[in-house]
Amino acid sequence: MEAVPLDAFLAEMARCRADAEAMLAAAADGAAVERARVEFLGARNGRLKGIQKGLGTVEPAARRDAGRHFNDLKDWLTVAIAAAQDRVAAAPATAEAAIDVTLPGTPVPLGHLHPITQTIRRVQEIMSRLGFESVDGPEVEDQWHNFDALAISPEHPARDPLDNFFLQVARGNDPLLLRSQTSTVQIRVMERRRPPLRIVSLGRVYRPDTADATHYPMFHQVEGLLVEPGTTMAHLKTTLRLLASSFLGAGVRVRFRPAFFPFTEPSVEVDMEWGGRWVEMGGAGMVDPAVLTAVGLDPDAVSGFAFGLGVERIAARRHGVADIRDFYRNDVRFLRQF
Ligand code: PHE
Repeated sequence: MEAVPLDAFLAEMARCRADAEAMLAAAADGAAVERARVEFLGARNGRLKGIQKGLGTVEPAARRDAGRHFNDLKDWLTVAIAAAQDRVAAAPATAEAAIDVTLPGTPVPLGHLHPITQTIRRVQEIMSRLGFESVDGPEVEDQWHNFDALAISPEHPARDPLDNFFLQVARGNDPLLLRSQTSTVQIRVMERRRPPLRIVSLGRVYRPDTADATHYPMFHQVEGLLVEPGTTMAHLKTTLRLLASSFLGAGVRVRFRPAFFPFTEPSVEVDMEWGGRWVEMGGAGMVDPAVLTAVGLDPDAVSGFAFGLGVERIAARRHGVADIRDFYRNDVRFLRQF
């Protein structure tokens, strides 16, 4: 008779063990465990007996090894069957008896949305009531959408490699970057859709700033864009005032200070006053004719406004948070408060 290789013998034992495991796991009462015992450890026709008989056919050099594995299997089966017998003996007769509905339940710790996510959703909701649709844009951008189409010239300091996260990846000769502002979305929307447009876009932006109480290398902006014939700065200011008072409360005041952005003209810095303190929240202005031209719109036929505010800033203002790093420390004692 041909000698059985050790591998084949071990495989047969592994099958035996897997079958026993399955049968014992499924055994719900003493009779089922007893059936399993007879099937595997039965003195006459048990599977272990069969394997023991095969032991003599294993290739002689491996027989010692095979014997050791055989003894392990036998020990395992003996213990597993005893454990199953104990288990079914201890089990209550009916399922109802197993559940004491009068015991106090196990509390499930419930989380909630992060304060920044809550702020984003709230701003989206407020803006939607003013007819602004929420849109998203990519966080990895090309220089056209982050700079060129926004009339940010090649020598503008905003393009400084030290002020941006440029990537090793390029599209043509154009290294991609993590967007430094959500104004990219203005361009993406105007390239695809024609006015009238009212969109709002809330998302992450990236700048290599050292983290401190008011800076973080990743933060969120809310970008608003409205393009309709006859739009004026008054529409812009009213929209921002409605957003501010809906989010922070009726007492908020909004102030514009002259500023410069390449993609708006005129441009303003937006401050909000709440509880006696003015805080700069972002920038805004009328969409620059150069931007409208870049996306194929006629600056003589349409006008629009755009604004960009810091989400962390308005969230911090609303909740009285002094250090924006707290939003990202993931300390549940802090997050639980919102
Ligand atoms: N994108 C500007 C910034 O990040 C803010 C801005 C948005 C200004 C829209 C004007 C219009 O600083």
